[in-house]
Formats: sequence, structure tokens, C-alpha cells
Amino acid sequence: MQFLVQPSAISDATITVPGDKSVSHRALMLGSIAEGRTSISGFLAGEDCHATLTAMASMGVHIEQTSSTEVLVQGVGLHGLIEPENELDLGNSGTAMRLMTGILSGQSFTSILTGDESLTSRPMQRVISPLGLMGASIDSDDGRPPLTVRGKVPLTGIDYTLPVASAQVKSAILLAGLYADGVTTVKEPAVTRDHTERMLNSMGVNVESANGRISITGNQVLRGSDIRVPADLSSASFVILATLLAKQADVLIEGVGVNPTRTGVIDILQAMGGDIRMENARLYGEEPVADIRVRSSTLHGGPVDARLVSLAIDEFPALFVAAAAAKGSTEFSGIAELRFKESDRIAAMATGLRNLGIRVEESDDGAVVHGGKFTGGRVDSQGDHRVAMSLAVAGTVATDTVTVNDVAAVNTSFPGFAACLTQLGVAIQ
Ligand code: S3P
Repeated sequence: MQFLVQPSAISDATITVPGDKSVSHRALMLGSIAEGRTSISGFLAGEDCHATLTAMASMGVHIEQTSSTEVLVQGVGLHGLIEPENELDLGNSGTAMRLMTGILSGQSFTSILTGDESLTSRPMQRVISPLGLMGASIDSDDGRPPLTVRGKVPLTGIDYTLPVASAQVKSAILLAGLYADGVTTVKEPAVTRDHTERMLNSMGVNVESANGRISITGNQVLRGSDIRVPADLSSASFVILATLLAKQADVLIEGVGVNPTRTGVIDILQAMGGDIRMENARLYGEEPVADIRVRSSTLHGGPVDARLVSLAIDEFPALFVAAAAAKGSTEFSGIAELRFKESDRIAAMATGLRNLGIRVEESDDGAVVHGGKFTGGRVDSQGDHRVAMSLAVAGTVATDTVTVNDVAAVNTSFPGFAACLTQLGVAIQ
């Protein structure tokens, strides 16, 4: 599958984008181990979350998708999961694999977790080590999936400092902490998305957070609840990017999650001159939400504040495109983690942008992107949904047609991406 994008004007529009991927995964997993029913609205019906849904269902949880964005989960309680008959195939999803490994570490059965080519090449030692300290035994292929998780009942609480900032690892340890005797504490080197902590709180679990230390006491009961999933800021970022780059457009994106642990992309784009405002701030449960108004802007480069990296971790492919369209040069640093995402995103974006006539200098943990004009051309997503969408948006302001190859993975996070760009006036096939 490929995208063909023609240079296009963006029209004023009011847009909605699909539900938040991180929140949708967590709603399924936490709803499954809660007591009673959890009803999820605004659910992301993408492939990644579907993999989580299927995996939880294969462990005896009754889950019914009543519409494309609504799901009912009949929770089985902390100790009600049953041994799956087959391997759990988590597709492309690192979040599914790492969080589920936390839950499975506290079970009395053994499970095997696997995934697609990208997922089976991603590092898992970061969860294997702390969960091993808690008592689980996890075999892997030299730190990569498939993972064979031999749970232990009960686990033992630990006090653990994360070597890298990662919400997935933090969440895996906190979820295992529900199955542990005593208190489990995670210290993070930089603030990462806190959806797990917020959702646990909303389900009646006490999670304490202060000075970068997050603590949970084991054996607390989760209460099934109604979860309204905000629209995904990571998906909204492509609409924000397309609007900023356009000549003259004013676009409103409704009901977007603006949890402060996610809004680094807005801060970085505003610092580059982007006209982005949050309107109608409100809460969906514990999650802050707003409508985001974006107007076309002249962007300028500069150094990107490395303290914002963990708050914008998924938006660097889009930010590389913003930098390429900006005046001057933009320096990204402290982004080595991008090399361990669905693809090596520093390399994938550097190659893609160079194919479109942009100068990029790459280093181990960063890049300098020199502003320029995108030529037309043929680029490859490296099988990475966010690389595919970022390069497609570059095509809207290129001098000629941009063809993005291998775009099927877009359905993992943003089903309807092409239709959304079409709604904005982009000629995309
Ligand atoms: C996520 C955490 C981040 C992010 C991923 C979703 C989550 O990964 O990149 O897309 O839902 O917890 P890391 O924890 O590996 O940084």
C-alpha cells in the first residue's frame, strides 16, 4: 500500500481524530482486571488496540465491541485471568507487549507474547529486568520477543529507578505492583505520560506520585468504570502540522487529550512560531481535554529544548517535517530513544527527508534538520505509521507528487488518516 500526495491547499475545517492509543490500551487492560463492568467510549479501533482486545479475550475476559468506538469489558478481577491456549500475538504494539508483561508477571500461569517483525526486534530487557527482580521469570530471544512469562504469586514490591524514561516500563512495573506484596515504587529520570496512574486512580486505586517517584501498594481492587477516551494528540499532530505548513488555514480539532505529560509537541511547535491555541478546556474523567485551534504560521528553527523530549516522544517524525519546512536550522538532541520505536525514527526520517531534498545531519542521539523546500519524490515509511504520516504531510507542501511506500501500518494508530487529510482539502490517494 502507498500514499500519493499532491501539493494541496488546506481549507478551514473542524476535524475530529480517532481515540487515544495509550488510553485505549489501558482501558482494555485495566477494565479486564477490574471488578465489574467497564464501558469505554471514544475507543481507538486501530490494529494495535485490537491486538490487546483479542489477547485479553483469550485470557477469559468477555469483551464486546458494541460499535466502532464503544467497548464493554466484563472485568474478571485481579485474579480472574485464565491461561491462554495460544501465544498472544500483539502485532506491532510495544505498549501492549510491555504493559501486558507486567500483568502476566503476577499470574499463576505461563504465557508467550509475540508480535510482528518490528515488535520482535524491539528491546524488552527494560521490562524483563525489573519484573525479574519482582519474582517473575521471563525468557526472551536475547532481550527481544517472543517473551515466555512465568508468573509468580505473589510478586515482591521493589524500589526501582528506570534507566531510560519510559511510560511503558513504568506502567509494566506499576501493574505488576498490583500483584505484589508491599509497596512498589518507580523513579523516572524524566516525566513520562501518566495515563496508567490517572486511570488507576479513577478506578479507585491509590497511586502516589511525588518528585518523580510513583508508588503503588499491592492487592488493591480496581472498580470497573466508564472511560471516555480523548482524541489522540499524537494523531492530531499530523493535522496540526499540515495546517501550520499550509498558506492560509484555520482548523479546529475537537476533544483532544492535552494531558501535560503529552503536550511537548505543542510547546515545541509554539516555540518555532506555530499559532496553536487550546480552547474549551475540560476533563474526561482524570484526563485533560481541549479543542485545539491551529492557524497557518511561518515556522523558524532553533535548538529544541531536550527537557521536552519525553513529553513529545512520539511526535518527532512530525517535528522533523516541521523543522524541514521552517526557516533556518533546527537541532534535536537527547532523542536516542527514537532509534528503538516502531522503526529507527532518526534514520527513517533523515532518509525520507533527504529523498525530498532536505539536508539532515544525523548523530547518535540527535539530528540537525536544515529548513528548505520539499521536492517531489518517492520515500519509504520503513513500516512505521508515524514516519508514513509525517512524510505524507510533507507532500502537501512539496513542489511535486510525493509517494510514500509501505503505509499499511497507519491503521495501527490512525485508521481514516487519508480520509482526514482529504477532509482538509489534501489530494491524497
Ligand atoms: C507509550 C509510551 C511511549 C510511546 C508509545 C506509547 C505508552 O513508549 O512511545 O507510543 O502508551 O505508554 P516508551 O515507554 O517506550 O517511551
